[in-house]
Amino acid sequence: RAVAAATQPLLGFQAVPASVADAIVVPPGYKAEVLIAWGDALFADAPAFAQSNDAKAQARQFGDNNDGMSFFPLGPDRALLAVNNEYTNYEYLFADGGKVLDAGAVAKAQAAHGVSLVELVRIDGKWQANPKGALNRRITATTPMTLSGPAAGHALLKTQADPEGRTALGTFNNCSNGQTPWGTYLTCEENFNGYFGSEGKPVLDPRAARYGLAAEDAGFGWHRFDERFDLAKHPQEPNRFGWVVEIDPKDPASTPKKRTALGRFKHENAAFTVNKDGRAVVYLGDDERGEHIYRFVSKNKVVPGNDPANRDLLDEGTLYVARFEAKEGELKGTGQWLPLVHGQNGLTRENGFADQGEVLIFAREAATRLGATTMDRPEWVAVHPHRAEAYCTLTNNKNRGLKENQPLDGANPRAENPYGQIIRWRPAAGDHGSDSFEWDLFLLAGNPGVHKEGLMAGSANIHPDNMFNSPDGIGFDEAGRLWIQTDGDYSNEKQFAGMGNNQMLCADPASGEVRRFLTGPIACEITGLTFSPDWRTLFVGVQHPGEELAPSHFPDGGTSIPRSAVLRITRDDGGIIGA
Ligand code: FEO
Ligand code: CA
Ligand code: CA
Ligand code: CA
Repeated sequence: RAVAAATQPLLGFQAVPASVADAIVVPPGYKAEVLIAWGDALFADAPAFAQSNDAKAQARQFGDNNDGMSFFPLGPDRALLAVNNEYTNYEYLFADGGKVLDAGAVAKAQAAHGVSLVELVRIDGKWQANPKGALNRRITATTPMTLSGPAAGHALLKTQADPEGRTALGTFNNCSNGQTPWGTYLTCEENFNGYFGSEGKPVLDPRAARYGLAAEDAGFGWHRFDERFDLAKHPQEPNRFGWVVEIDPKDPASTPKKRTALGRFKHENAAFTVNKDGRAVVYLGDDERGEHIYRFVSKNKVVPGNDPANRDLLDEGTLYVARFEAKEGELKGTGQWLPLVHGQNGLTRENGFADQGEVLIFAREAATRLGATTMDRPEWVAVHPHRAEAYCTLTNNKNRGLKENQPLDGANPRAENPYGQIIRWRPAAGDHGSDSFEWDLFLLAGNPGVHKEGLMAGSANIHPDNMFNSPDGIGFDEAGRLWIQTDGDYSNEKQFAGMGNNQMLCADPASGEVRRFLTGPIACEITGLTFSPDWRTLFVGVQHPGEELAPSHFPDGGTSIPRSAVLRITRDDGGIIGA
């Protein structure tokens, strides 16, 4: 049996073609169904979805634009799904498309953000959402949270409303996620800057610009109706965002904790692994052109099981940032983790870092001082389940080769990179706590139909039947299949011709083979994945179908407005997904 298992190919499903249809397509023998969608009721007193739902209703319903998610078993047929609700699309949230905002509209938008916790129940072998689950919970842009770790109580985190600098309200732009072995959920704050603005002339810390903070917001208009978001009045409020937040999903009364030891930047996900010496290691991407990849290593060891000793493990440890090196012309090399520790390597008061809190609050500035490598937008990191190896999607970067701080290098080798690549590293001695590693590029996405040769054609494992651009979500299953999701250009034209809608693929890390597994509806991004413990149900997120009024009616069909949704994917024969 062992011999047979060893020779069985890792990828056992039939590839699906690229698609521009307003539909989910999965391989023959697979089924994709909607588990839950934006606006679905999470409590017995919540109304059914309607575009006219108000803020109060939205706060009792599944949030919008679901992204990263994790599955928490509660029993053989009962579980809890924690799901990020990254942002909302005003063109669908409001009947007038958000043209005229008021306080009620902003409150509804705030309620559409955050995290949704929904109980699942398995009936007739299929996991379904339980709208009456006792652990169902909504966390929104106004839910009270504790700031903990080295920056908690720091002068830079204090505001009029919170003179202690220890209590923040809410979380938003929760992109991707992580899960700890002690049963908590990690939700990562990404583009927090876009929610702050001012009609006045804010006076900001000079380092705020690195985070994109400015008087002009991203169009959400919150500062006009909720003073907290007005930078002229509360210039330090944004310092309380851009963190990784830890949530105890099994205690609906618990207060989420912002773990400042993991640094403040535009967090993508938090790829958690227990190192062989027992310490927690969390790999973190900072998704912006020319930003960095980070690693947190806990001071203390993980105590196996759901032990109270683990509860504040993420408050103490060391944050590092990566430097990638390569010989001229090589797409592989060596690298180092550089510690963001106050007092070391120039992270001193003279250089603008009064203490460790300031190093963490302005982690990007600290990383630059250490000589970290600027990357092509680091999105998710995934750690291989059996080998000491981690993978990170570098989604694309139109600035590569154009901006002085973003020269071409081995890890980011293409000018104005439209396609993205996946980098991987192997820590020295198989030790995720080691300060050095070897790296290579697992793949370069590209278009061999448009580019006959050169790096824009993609790496050797990319061909006309598996082309895609902008890898973003990634995750491993237990067998070591690497699942890849895309958030790319879905025009299907010019340099993206033949790629179709955003999609999900599956790769064999050993052979390098990449096979398309799923295609999404019009103008969506595919993002968020988690499995049931038996690996026979895969949950996948469909985010912003029909964005910017593209003609999608997913998932309800007819003339309905499109809704982000979580899919449940199973095999007709009940087998393991992907095998
Ligand atoms: Fe929310 Fe970097 O994606
Ligand atoms: Ca993403
Ligand atoms: Ca993305
Ligand atoms: Ca997204």
